[in-house]
Formats: sequence, structure tokens, C-alpha cells
Amino acid sequence: MCGIFGYTGKRKPAGILLEGLKKLEYRGYDSCGIALNTGQRLAVFKTKGPVSKLAGILRDRKIPACCCGIAHTRWATHGTPTRINAHPHLDCWKKLALVHNGIIENFAGIKKKIASEHKIKSSTDTEIIAHLIGGFLRKGLSKKRAILKTAAVLRGSFALGILFSDEPGVIWGVKKESPLMAGLGRGECFLSSDSVAMLSWTKKAVYLKDEEVARINPQGIEVFSFRGKKVFPQPVVIKQEAFSTEKGRFQHFMLKEIFEQPKVSAGILSRYAGRSEVWFGKGFLSRQAANKIRRIFIVACGTAYHAGFSSKYLFERIKGLSVEADVSSEFRYRKVDFNRNDLVIAISQSGETADTLAAVNFAKQQGCRILAVCNVENSALTRAADFVVYTLAGPEIGVASTKAFTAQMFCLYLIYLYIARARGSIVKEQETVFLAKAKKIPLLQNKILTQSLNQVRSIARQFSQYGCFLFLGRGINFPLALEGALKLKEISYIPAEGYAAGEMKHGPIALIDEYRAVVCLLSSDSLFEKMVSNMQEIKARKGKVLAITDRPSAVPKGLADKVIALPKISPEFFPLLASLPLQLFAYFVAKNLGRAIDKPRNLAKSVTVE
Ligand code: M6R
Repeated sequence: MCGIFGYTGKRKPAGILLEGLKKLEYRGYDSCGIALNTGQRLAVFKTKGPVSKLAGILRDRKIPACCCGIAHTRWATHGTPTRINAHPHLDCWKKLALVHNGIIENFAGIKKKIASEHKIKSSTDTEIIAHLIGGFLRKGLSKKRAILKTAAVLRGSFALGILFSDEPGVIWGVKKESPLMAGLGRGECFLSSDSVAMLSWTKKAVYLKDEEVARINPQGIEVFSFRGKKVFPQPVVIKQEAFSTEKGRFQHFMLKEIFEQPKVSAGILSRYAGRSEVWFGKGFLSRQAANKIRRIFIVACGTAYHAGFSSKYLFERIKGLSVEADVSSEFRYRKVDFNRNDLVIAISQSGETADTLAAVNFAKQQGCRILAVCNVENSALTRAADFVVYTLAGPEIGVASTKAFTAQMFCLYLIYLYIARARGSIVKEQETVFLAKAKKIPLLQNKILTQSLNQVRSIARQFSQYGCFLFLGRGINFPLALEGALKLKEISYIPAEGYAAGEMKHGPIALIDEYRAVVCLLSSDSLFEKMVSNMQEIKARKGKVLAITDRPSAVPKGLADKVIALPKISPEFFPLLASLPLQLFAYFVAKNLGRAIDKPRNLAKSVTVE
């Protein structure tokens, strides 16, 4: 949820640190700071607010000559977003500066213990780490021993970047359950919590493993385990992304990512779909193993949960399978008699979401097998899983998830096809027909983006004035209604609720009047008429209606104030198309209201706390 960046080398560190930090800002953006090692002392600059503000502060001050530095962008967990709580934090003697991603679960106890000996300034869990290391140094321990002793005391997850005032040109990195890597350049090295931030300078990296410590200088890196033993990790080449991490011609990452969806869909098809069958590579769930599954539990959070929930409607068509979808944060409290024939499908864009990781750990302890549907290679989720399907969406920077959502749904649909076929629930011809329909998706998504952009922009302008929204769908479009509402509320801050359309009369209908708007999702299936009846009920109460449908001519005149027409598609694929106008709608409403679209208030891209 926060971002760490470090640099040591021949160039001026401050500019590079700011540039790296800007790339990480999507992960947390309430405050930020950097620490520079001048060779004699540590100079720290911090601020509440975005990296651009920190850049302004550095422009106005005289930056001392320095050889290396660490930087951090924060999403507050312990303590409000203030300058004092921003990282880096110093020990009492200003011997070290430290940045931290993650959470120290036992920080309150440690704080109490050390409070009399140390001057603790902030309310963060991070500062106590700096004091612990500082305290051990004071007792005469070496830097390495002080770090290892501190790591042994801490409970929770942490990625740390540390500078010592008397060790110019050196950065230390520490990793436990939170990503951290070192980038290796020519005569310069980097430390980062995300490869995205290093790509402008180097493509060679060492991904630290859990419970490892790295000592980094311009010439390279030394790595030790938490037990103090030297380890020799192999550097890897960071994969060149098919998608740029720059905004390019788009004003926001969210809009850029919405427009990348046809390319993402095409990439998924070309990786996993042959002419008449799907294939997820060697080592994937075998057909025999697929046959043994009795229950599928889908777990995920937020948008990823909506993708999973939508796929439930397909998985449950498979004979002999029971399927449930749960939000990760609730799944782990369930008292179910799990067993080895249960498959847990865990979905996550980042692969770092703490709730989903906790759900996966819980399921593993119960003996379930784990299939991860994830966007980030080498993430904690993919490492914990027995099987992985990558969603191939490329880096998603906008906090509101868009292309990751359709990519997750698309991959899940193909997983459904694989399992259904493996279990003989569908025959080869049905698989071929399903795939033929799936292969039309990229083209149709492209068509929607080019044809409906202006229309959605203008509808959003008219609808921005409404103070409350309902999103309604039935069947597979119910999860889509939940997602449409989530997208709108998280970036526009307008209250929005997603509902199964049939539930409207059981309560939410009380909200409807001429000041509320309802978005109705209608695909070409047997539920179309029922959705039309719901629209009648809304109109009878003067509610404003926006219909999104691939059967526009069948919507009775006067029932919808606006209709967004989609190309005709089989109902199961409707969410893969209708998501796009829903995302655009949320985007343009938020834009009309002048919201911070890529970095909405209070949110962070990866939620690494439970
Ligand atoms: O990285 P994940 O897919 O596990 O993240 C899950 C949710 O935190 C995420 O989808 C969140 O709901 C987004 N802000 C939605 O746009």
C-alpha cells in the first residue's frame, strides 16, 4: 500500500528518487519523504501530500551533495497522514533513516517497552523499527546483527529500506511478506518495492525472498538470510511489459487502462485459447484432478470479488460441482468441513491483498488446493498457490481497477471451459462454439470504446448531478451491477449501491424519486422482460433510468431516459462488454465533479493490511 525506492550510484540521487517515487505513488499517496546520505549526515525531507509537493520542497531548498538515498510514499495505517508520520524515520541518534511497507503487529508492546529509552516522535509502527536498530547499534552490534536482531523481534509484514549515516553509498533492504527487489545497473543500484519504478534505468533485478536482508552498493548486492547466512540469488531480467507505464495521450491512467482492454483480451486469447480448446500449460490442474473436484470456493476482494462472483454463474453449470463465492475477509471465518477435493480460486490483481492471502493460508491449512488468478508474477499469492493463471493485463496504475476486472473474468471463463470439458460436462463442439464467441470479444470491446465514448461522456455530464445511484442486474449481471456501483462510488464519492434487480422492491425502491438515478443492465436472455418490469417500477416513481443493453430496440419507449446500445452478444459474455461503458460512465462522472480519478481519497492500489 506504500512504496519504497532507493538509489545508490554516480548520479544525483534526489531527482532519481523523485522519479521512482512518482511511479510508485499509485500505491499510496497521502504523504511522502526522502532521506539522503551526504557522507557525514542524513538529510531528511518529508511532507504531507503528493510527490509533486515534495519535489517543490526540494526545489526550494539547497540539496546537499549526496551519494545515495531512500524514498517512500505512504498510505497511512498507524497514525494520520502528517509530515511527522511520513517516512523516512530516524533513530534517536540520527544514525539511520528507515522506510517501511507493511504492518508491525506487535508494535504497541515494543513501543511501551522502549518508550523510556527512546524519544518516539510519530504515531507510526515504523518508527519503533528505527529505534530498535539504533538501540542495538548503540550496544555495539554490527549493522547486520542489529538488523537481524530487530527482524527477529518484529511480528507482521515488512519491507524496509535503511541508510546508515556512517556508511555512504550503501542501502540495506529487508524483506518479510512484502515485496522488495534490488535493481542492478552499471555502477549504480536501486531498491524498490515494485519493478515498475526501476524500469527506466535497469531491467536486471534480484527479487528478495522472504526473510532476506540485502546490502546494496553501486557495485552490486550481498544477500543474507535472517539466520545470517550468505545466499546467492540469481538476477533475473524484468519482463518487458506489453503495456507502457506512462499515461501517453490519456489524461488519466484509468482512461488509458479502460482503452487497453481489447488488447488485454486479445493477449489472453492468444496465450490460453487454441482453435478448439484452452490450455494453461504444463503443471496446471490435470484433467484427472479437475475430475476429482467436488466444490469450488471463489475468494477475492473488491473488484476481483465481482469478477469471481460473475464466474460463479458459469462454474455452477458444471455437473457434480457446488460453487460458492466469498469476499476473502469473511471466508476465513467459515466453519466448513473442507477437504483435498475442494478447490479455492483466489483472484487478485496485485497478488498482495492481505485479506486474500489470509484466506488462502486458511484454505491451505484446511487441505484445499489453491488456484490463483493473478496479474503480478512472483507475487505472494502466486507463490502460495498450487496453480496459477496470469491475467496478462499489464501494470494497472489507476486505483480503480478496470482492465484487471475484465481480464480476471475472461481468464475465469476460460478456466470454467477447461474444467467443464475435463469433467465431460460439455463436449468438444460446445467448447469450440464457446471459444468462437470468446474470440469476438476484443473486436467488440474495441467497437464499444470507439463508438460509445462520446455518448457516455455526454450522458455522464447529465447524470453527474444525481445524489445517489442504484445499479441493477439479474443473473450474471448482478455482480456487474455491484462492480458498476463500486466503480462509481470509489472515484466520484457519490453513494451508489449495486443490487440484484429482484431485490429492489424489498427495500431500495424507497430511495427512488426524481433526484435518484438507476443504471439497469439488460442482456438478451430470459431475464430481459423482468428487468423491463423493474424499469417500469422505477419510472412509476420518477427515477432517472440509464439502460445498458445489447437489445436496445426491445426497451419500451419512454422507460429509459438514456440507452447505451452494445453489440449483440451471448448473455454470458455480456459483462465483458457492458463493463466498458460502466467504467467510462464512472470515469466521466468523476471527471465532471473534479475528482482525483487515479488517486481517489482514502484508497490505495494494493491493500496489504487486513
Ligand atoms: O489487488 P486485488 O485485486 O487483490 O485488489 C482487490 C481490491 O482491493 C480492489 O479490487 C479494489 O476494490 C479496487 N479499488 C477496485 O477498483
